[in-house]
Amino acid sequence: MTPAISTAIHLITFAVFFVVASTALTSLDNTVEPAELKRDDLARRFLENDTVLLACDNHFSFQYVRWYKEDQLIVDSRDSNETLTPDRIRLWSNGSLQIAQLQPMDTGDYSCALKTDNDTEVQRVHSIIVQYPPTVKTEPEGIIELPIGAVFQIICEARGVPQPKLYWRWNGKLVDNQLIGNRLSMQIEVGSRAQTGPIECVANNSIGELAVAGMFLKVQFPPEVRLERNIIYTKVGIRSDLECLIEAVPRASVNWFHHGVPMTYDSRISRYELEMQPNVSNLQYNTVIKHTLSIRNVRDSDLGLYECRAENKLGFKSAAIDLTGRPMPCVFKINPGVQSSTSHVLVWQTESLSALMEFKLKFRQIPSASITPQTLDTDFKTDWTILTIPSELSAGPIHITTYTLHGLQPASVYEVVVFARNHFGWSESSKIVRFATGGEVELPNYSTESELDSNEEQSSLESVEQPEENSVHLNEIYESRIINSAAAKVWRFMNLAGFMAFAYVKYVLI
Ligand SMILES: *[C@@H]1O[C@H](CO)[C@@H](O)[C@H](O)[C@H]1NC(C)=O
Ligand SMILES: *[C@@H]1O[C@H](CO)[C@@H](O)[C@H](O)[C@H]1NC(C)=O
Ligand SMILES: *[C@@H]1O[C@H](CO)[C@@H](O)[C@H](O)[C@H]1NC(C)=O
Ligand SMILES: *[C@@H]1O[C@H](CO)[C@@H](O)[C@H](O)[C@H]1NC(C)=O
Ligand SMILES: *[C@@H]1O[C@H](CO)[C@@H](O)[C@H](O)[C@H]1NC(C)=O
Ligand SMILES: *[C@@H]1O[C@H](CO)[C@@H](O)[C@H](O)[C@H]1NC(C)=O
Ligand SMILES: *[C@@H]1O[C@H](CO)[C@@H](O)[C@H](O)[C@H]1NC(C)=O
Repeated sequence: MTPAISTAIHLITFAVFFVVASTALTSLDNTVEPAELKRDDLARRFLENDTVLLACDNHFSFQYVRWYKEDQLIVDSRDSNETLTPDRIRLWSNGSLQIAQLQPMDTGDYSCALKTDNDTEVQRVHSIIVQYPPTVKTEPEGIIELPIGAVFQIICEARGVPQPKLYWRWNGKLVDNQLIGNRLSMQIEVGSRAQTGPIECVANNSIGELAVAGMFLKVQFPPEVRLERNIIYTKVGIRSDLECLIEAVPRASVNWFHHGVPMTYDSRISRYELEMQPNVSNLQYNTVIKHTLSIRNVRDSDLGLYECRAENKLGFKSAAIDLTGRPMPCVFKINPGVQSSTSHVLVWQTESLSALMEFKLKFRQIPSASITPQTLDTDFKTDWTILTIPSELSAGPIHITTYTLHGLQPASVYEVVVFARNHFGWSESSKIVRFATGGEVELPNYSTESELDSNEEQSSLESVEQPEENSVHLNEIYESRIINSAAAKVWRFMNLAGFMAFAYVKYVLI
């Protein structure tokens, strides 16, 4: 369905629904069945499909007997022809009337007139009520998509004897208005996306099952785009999939761009979409659609910045994915070896699908006064020392490098960062890691980052919230993160803020 048609259909649905809802409003009156109220006390109650036997008198011989429902003659024993309709009604020879398979319409007053052998008239009235479980329907029903700010009325109508108790259930929770009767209405103003979900009318008259009917409200919102990864590492000749997770009501149309140019598709470059299962247990009813751009046999010209752009009538949103052949950022590994006071063994790991060429290692000493928060805002930076380290031959794609820094000051804190390069260029920077050399300070074993994992994007703000228990050791690392691209200035700010908070925590602990 093209977006234009789909939008048109939504508009039509919307319009029709308002017309229907307002007609329903005017045409429905609060109709209570008066007959039931009147005979409520005297009546005998039966269930649908029961059989009832109504006796007139204990006369086994009589001249004739007639049965009426309300004022309508049902049967007269003088008719040789017993033309009883419907055939589930039967007159016994002792004058009793039997009604089998009771129907809701059998509810009413039945009276008999019997003439005895000695010409006495006997009359008797029976009231019966046939009870039946509720049925319910709402107007509107089905799936209704509405924007925030829309106001509408939902009406519930129920049938059932006795009168059912009606109430609303919205997103599984009871809405606080109840009514005994056969009609209930609720005015709803669409206020937020959290209102998405089923709005149900529930009817209970204690006969049989509850009856439930309703509509599903989908609150409209502009597209939201989520990425699982914003950098896809690749190399020439392999297949790479770029993925955007998109949520929107109404459903968004999605286009892919490469360096700002709309993609063209062929046997090598294709796109497809997959509907993710909505998480109803989590009351997340909106469908997430995973859009994938799949590039087989990647070429040099395929590398670069991609954009997936989702659009619906409420707006658009896009997200950028970098398809790159560069190495992944290096990650410093735990080095369990004993460290000396003037040298330090660093171990880092990176992943590169193409052969690595070299590393750039930058390190500098942190003046010890700078570790306290008072001096953090002053510029404590000394110049970085930059080393170029050739890559060792390694089959890859995971490369682990060990390198020893010599000539360090004892009992000092350093920070270090490393970059890797292959044919496609330099990796993003590793996280900045701090270490201390041995000396007067007692030296527990060296611990830096945990293993390379998918949680790499964790910001240092998060690590502040959960300082590890061994973070009281002076030589435990402080980490921050350098992101060089201009787009990442916010990140850098957040990381700096995080680092300051982290350093403060450590200061307090020390
Ligand atoms: C009464 O009988 C009809 C026909 O057999 C059946 O469809 C209906 O469900 C029955 N009603 C009840 C309340 O058992
Ligand atoms: C009348 O006849 C029916 C059918 O034979 C029987 O079930 C019923 O007990 C009799 N008496 C009365 C008072 O209905
Ligand atoms: C008996 O029923 C038949 C057919 O329904 C009808 O033709 C006939 O007139 C009826 N007789 C009486 C006495 O009602
Ligand atoms: C007619 O018979 C009934 C009992 O069947 C009795 O109660 C009533 O008194 C009698 N009436 C007359 C006028 O005999
Ligand atoms: C229906 O209403 C009756 C009487 O109020 C109550 O006892 C019963 O639990 C209700 N049934 C359900 C399923 O809520
Ligand atoms: C749905 O959400 C619940 C609660 O957040 C979570 O435990 C569950 O794993 C989710 N299911 C799916 C299929 O995502
Ligand atoms: C490192 O420290 C931990 C706990 O502080 C200890 O269990 C472990 O044995 C130490 N490892 C080495 C190599 O000293």
